[in-house]
Amino acid sequence: MSNTLNGLVALVTGASSGIGEATALALSAEGARVAVAARRADRLESLARKAPDEMLALDLDVTDQESVRAAVAATVERFGALDVLVNNAGVMLNGPILGADITQWTRMVETNLLGSMYMVHASLPHLLERGGTIVQVSSTSGRIASAYSGVYSATKFGIAAFSESLRQEVTTRGVRVVVVEPGFVATELTSHNTDPTMVAAAQEMAASMRTLRSEDIANAVVYAVTQPEHVAVNEILIRPTDQTR
Ligand SMILES: NC(=O)c1ccc[n+]([C@@H]2O[C@H](COP(=O)([O-])OP(=O)(O)OC[C@H]3O[C@@H](n4cnc5c(N)ncnc54)[C@H](OP(=O)(O)O)[C@@H]3O)[C@@H](O)[C@H]2O)c1
Repeated sequence: MSNTLNGLVALVTGASSGIGEATALALSAEGARVAVAARRADRLESLARKAPDEMLALDLDVTDQESVRAAVAATVERFGALDVLVNNAGVMLNGPILGADITQWTRMVETNLLGSMYMVHASLPHLLERGGTIVQVSSTSGRIASAYSGVYSATKFGIAAFSESLRQEVTTRGVRVVVVEPGFVATELTSHNTDPTMVAAAQEMAASMRTLRSEDIANAVVYAVTQPEHVAVNEILIRPTDQTR
C-alpha cells in the first residue's frame, strides 16, 4: 500500500456504488481517511468493511442542503479537516425531450448540478483552510451533447461552467479544481433509466466496446490529487479506447 495521501481527509459523494465506491477505496489505499456518503447506508457499511483503513459512512442526500451541511460537518468533526472533496453523486435519466417526464429533469438538475454546487458551498471554507482539492465528476456529456441526453448534458455542461468560475476564484488561494469527464463506464448508472429504449441502447453500447471500469476513473482521480501542490490538473477527459464520441 502506498501512502501518498497520508494524513489527508477526503469526502466522496455517491460512494455507495460505481465510480464513487472505487474512488473511495483508491484514496483509502493511498492513505487518506475517507468519509463515504450516499443514501444507501447498507452499501456504505459494506464498503467501509472492505477498506484498508478507517472509513466514515455518512447518510447524504445531495439535493437536501441540510443533509449536505451535516455530512461536511460530520467529516470535519470526525477527522479534524477536509482536504479532498470528490463531488461524484449523479443520476442519468435519458430520453427524448418531447413528452418527457419533467420530474426526471428536476431530479437530474437537483442531484447533478445543484447538489454538486451545495457540496462545494459547504466544503469550501474547510478546503481553503488546508489548500485542498475539489474533484468534480462531469462526463463526456459535459463536452458534447447528443440526442436523448439533453438534460443530463445540461447538468454536466453546468458543472463545467461552475467549476471554471470556482477555479478562477480559489486557485491562487491554494485550492485546486479538477474536472473529470468519463466516457462509458460499466456501473449501475444506466439501470435507473425508466425508458426501456434507453436501457436497451446503453446495453447495446456496453456490448459493443471494452468499457471503462470504475477503477480506471479512480486511478485518474488519484493521479490528479497526488500531484505536487504547484501542479493543478484541471481537466481529465477519459474514454474507452473503443468509444468514438
Ligand atoms: N457510468 C458512466 O458511464 C459515467 C460516465 C460519465 C460520468 N459519470 C458520472 O459518474 C458519477 C457516478 O456515477 P456511476 O457511473 O458511478 O453510477 P452509480 O453506480 O449509479 O453511482 C451513482 C451514485 O450517486 C449516488 N446518488 C444518486 N443520487 C444521490 C443523492 N440524491 N444524494 C446522494 N447520492 C446520490 C448513488 O448513491 P445512492 O443511490 O445510495 O444515494 C450512487 O452512489 C455520476 O455523476 C455520473 O454522472 C458516469
